[in-house]
Amino acid sequence: MKRHDVTAGPASSGPASGGIEHTCVSRRSFLKGGSVAGGAIMLSGVPGMEGKVLAAQVVRYPRMFIAKLSALTTDQPLKFKYPDDGRNSGSLLVKLGERAGGGLGPDRDVVAFNALCTHQGGPMGGTYKPEHKILGPCPFHQSTFDLTRHGMIVSGHATESLPQVLLELEGDDIYAVGMIGLIYGRHDNLKG
Ligand code: FES
Repeated sequence: MKRHDVTAGPASSGPASGGIEHTCVSRRSFLKGGSVAGGAIMLSGVPGMEGKVLAAQVVRYPRMFIAKLSALTTDQPLKFKYPDDGRNSGSLLVKLGERAGGGLGPDRDVVAFNALCTHQGGPMGGTYKPEHKILGPCPFHQSTFDLTRHGMIVSGHATESLPQVLLELEGDDIYAVGMIGLIYGRHDNLKG
């Protein structure tokens, strides 16, 4: 299990060696066991936690090309599936236009999340609110999630943050490489 110790700040990562920029952030630990690799990551973008380094588990999945950074338009989410085409894998990539925890790119503003509500699986793919940088309210019970702070809950019935997709930037290419959190309805993110 590989561990990444990173200092906290408003954004989660900096350029890595080899021309690849990584993001890996979380505010909790999860996904014990399984066959995938994990790592310790930083907690950032959470009020009151700046400057602190926490350990959490990052689950690495197959690297998958998602989009060109230069093709993204601020506040226009791009839908994709990750980590596979299986059940509940619908996700959103969005350039928020403001610095975000786990954000990728020169402005640290590109993030991605699974788009199912962590409460009871409400479909949230079409609920992005650019004025507040949130996903929601969930059509089932009104939960909302802050995309600038690792998908943490703003309001509603959910008790878990949205699963955040780990991203890497290589040149202009954005890749998904893992997941922080468990996709709703799956007992393992890779077992739909
Ligand atoms: S399923 Fe989203 S708030 Fe209940």
